Amino acid sequence: MSVVIVVGAQWGDEGKGKVVDLFTERADTVVRYGGGANAGHTLVIEGKKLVTHLVPSGVCHPGKSCVLGDGMVIDPHTLLEEIADCQSRGLLMRNELLIGLGAHVILPYHKLLDGLREDRGATTGRAIGTTRRGIGPAYEAKAARKGVRMRDLEKPARVRELVAANLDEMIPLILHLGGTAPSKAEVAKWIDDALAAGDKLRPYSGDAGRHVARTIAAGKHVLFEGAQGCLLDLDHGTYPYVTSSSTIAAGACQSAGIGPTQIDTVVGITKAYATRVGEGPFPTEIKGEAGERLRIAGGEFGATTGRPRRCGWLDLPALRMGVRLSGMGSLALTKLDVLANLGEVSVCVAYKLDGKELDEPPTDPEDIARAEPVFTKFPGWTKLPSECRDVTDLPAPARAYVDTIQRMAGVPFCLVSHGPDRTETIRLIDPFAAAI
Ligand code: IMP
Repeated sequence: MSVVIVVGAQWGDEGKGKVVDLFTERADTVVRYGGGANAGHTLVIEGKKLVTHLVPSGVCHPGKSCVLGDGMVIDPHTLLEEIADCQSRGLLMRNELLIGLGAHVILPYHKLLDGLREDRGATTGRAIGTTRRGIGPAYEAKAARKGVRMRDLEKPARVRELVAANLDEMIPLILHLGGTAPSKAEVAKWIDDALAAGDKLRPYSGDAGRHVARTIAAGKHVLFEGAQGCLLDLDHGTYPYVTSSSTIAAGACQSAGIGPTQIDTVVGITKAYATRVGEGPFPTEIKGEAGERLRIAGGEFGATTGRPRRCGWLDLPALRMGVRLSGMGSLALTKLDVLANLGEVSVCVAYKLDGKELDEPPTDPEDIARAEPVFTKFPGWTKLPSECRDVTDLPAPARAYVDTIQRMAGVPFCLVSHGPDRTETIRLIDPFAAAI
């Protein structure tokens, strides 16, 4: 086993940052695939918090190489800030970062359009609840074959031409959505700033796909880090309430330019409960005070936007769908500690729709919204001892919860996390060592 994909099994924010950080101990290279600064990974190392949006969560291990795949959409200014933050902590020195030259660049007009659409959506009931980071518009430009790639930042004339072509189509839309057309001076500054950022990022940029392929061919351990979660996948998630990239394991191959036969196993990350940010169906959502209690206990506020996350009980049908979509060989269960002191814990084991019981969500989001969750209740537990290192160290009710979820999800747990620190972890299977 040398190539492992870590992927969110829910709607994002599953605690991938901590798991990737732990697995990076065994990896030589960590590759972030898909998305952009819509993601936010919070790492707590020796009590100090580091939030990354673009740089892989493996960054805290000096000497490992961090790659940003060609399938990403990169805001060059955010990336420069992140590199500076990491370097001020002695991390991410030059030969530890490689930015794929094929990744697309997020420009200010992508963010402008994203925000205007969300504002308009708020009045028409069609908002997605995006992060407003320009992710959708940047992927739209890519699909329309008008995007600016990292490699283009070396060619000022080409960037000017592409930006002009994009704005030519976009300005009527900006005006239609109630925005103001950017002035010539503003556009010139956008371009100059992007080119200047490109100059600073050039020493870190290169052929990421070939680097990853060579690393795999050399028998080294490569860890792919997904962003968001399977249920936000553009093709298979709760469309239209999804992000604009491929968040499932297949996205790793697509982003890095390697074939599926290169992948040894996929680890899905799931919280012991569920959260979702933005709009879209969420059958196990807990409304009111109880939801607020879970939000506070879990610190469920977006690492990127600060938005309060919607909180709910663990949704096994949705989890099974994630397991299927990404071909997960194992799951890492996170934030088990957050469920302490609740008295009783519920889990959705199936959905009921039009008199039928379903073990996976229906495909139409309107049906998901109509579906009734079937809950099983578990006795709760009080605070988990932070020194739990084995499932046998867990209080009996917490252990029963973990055993039942594992059985009903259909794949084994490779890890159970019960606190933000690296030490608050029960390690069960090493995905780089075992055949899972
Ligand atoms: P976008 O990716 O900014 O276009 O947002 C599309 C949807 O994906 C919205 O519901 C966002 O809240 C959600 N989303 C995007 N990134 C994340 C993430 O990292 N965690 C959780 N939700 C996310």
